[in-house]
Amino acid sequence: MASTWFVFVIGVILVATADAQLSTNFYNSRCPRAVAKVAEVVKAAVTRDRTLAPALLRLHFHDCFVRGCDASVLLDSRPGVPGEKEAFGNKGSLRGFQVIDSVKSQVEALCPGVVSCSDILTLAARDALQQFAGFNWSVPLGRRDGVISSVNEANNDLPPPSLNFDSLVRTFNRKGFTTKEMITLSGSHTIGVAHCSTIQSRLYNFSQTSPTDPSIDPTFAASLKRQCKFGDTRTTIKMDQTTSVDTWNTNYYSNVVGGRVLFQSDDATKRNSEGLKVVQNYNTRGSPFNADFAAAMVKLGRLQALTGTQGQIRRKCNVIN
Ligand code: HEM
Repeated sequence: MASTWFVFVIGVILVATADAQLSTNFYNSRCPRAVAKVAEVVKAAVTRDRTLAPALLRLHFHDCFVRGCDASVLLDSRPGVPGEKEAFGNKGSLRGFQVIDSVKSQVEALCPGVVSCSDILTLAARDALQQFAGFNWSVPLGRRDGVISSVNEANNDLPPPSLNFDSLVRTFNRKGFTTKEMITLSGSHTIGVAHCSTIQSRLYNFSQTSPTDPSIDPTFAASLKRQCKFGDTRTTIKMDQTTSVDTWNTNYYSNVVGGRVLFQSDDATKRNSEGLKVVQNYNTRGSPFNADFAAAMVKLGRLQALTGTQGQIRRKCNVIN
C-alpha cells in the first residue's frame, strides 16, 4: 500500500514538473500559426522603424527581472497602485508597447485566450533581433501571465546605470545569472539609445574633485557634453557612438576597453580581473559573443516563468482579466 502511494506521489511530481517545463513546440497543437504571426508583425514593425529592435529587447529584460517573465511590465497602473511602468528605469524610456498590443490583438484573432503576453514579449525580443541582426535562437514557450505589477519591486530589481562592478554582479546573481552572463547581456548596449538624463551626473556632477567621471575617454566626454548639455534630460543619444547607423556587433566591448561607453555600469564590467577577461574575450575576431548572447537570452526568458495552472492568459496585455 505504502509503495502504491509512493509511486502515485512520484507520478504526480513528474507530471507537475513536466507541466512546469517550457517547450519550443508548446503552441504547435494549441495555436499552430501563433509563432509565425508574432514574427510577421514584429518583423514588419522593425522594418518600418529599426529603433524598435532595441526597445523590444529592453522591454523583455525589464519584464523578466521583475517578478520573472510574466508580462507584469505591460500592466497599467491602477488607482492607488502604481505599476512597474512608473519605475525610475521604465518611466519615459521603455518603448515598444504598441507593437506588443498589435501582436496580441492579431494572435487573439487567431486563437482567443491561448497565447500569453509573456510568450509574446519573449518571442518579440528574439524576432526583433533576428530582423535587426540576422541571428536567431529557439524560444521555449508556455509561459503564463502574472496579475501583479509593483513600482517598488521594479525600483528594487532593475539595475541603475550608476552601479559598480560588485553591485552589478549582486543584482544579476540574485536573479541566477553569472558575472559572465551579466557582461554578455550588457552587450545589448551596442544598439539603441539613452536619454541625456542618464549621464548628466557622470558628465557634470561626478565628484567633489572631478565634475566629469575620469574613466571616460576625454575626447568622448567632450563629444557627449556637446550632445547632452548641462541640465538636458530629454535628448536621446546613441549607445554606440562609433557608427552612425546601429548594427549588431561587438563594438560595445571595444568601447568598454576604450572608455567610450555611456554608463558607469558599462565601464564597471572591466573593473575586475574576471570581468576584464570576459570583455577582452568578446573584443576579439571570432568572438563567441553571439552564441553566448543567444544562450543567455534563453536563460533570461526562463526566469521565474509561470506555467501550468499558475497565473492566467491575459486577453489584453495591459490589464488583468
Ligand atoms: C547591466 C545592467 C544594465 C543597466 C544598468 C542598464 C541601463 C540602461 C539604461 C539607463 C538605458 C537607457 C534608457 C533611456 O535613457 O532611455 C538602457 C538602454 C538599453 N538597455 Fe540596458 N541596462 C542594463 C542591462 C541591459 C540588459 C541585460 C539588456 C538586454 C538584455 C539591456 C538592453 C538595453 C537596450 C537594448 C537599451 C536601448 C533601449 C532603446 O533604444 O530604447 N540592458 N539600459
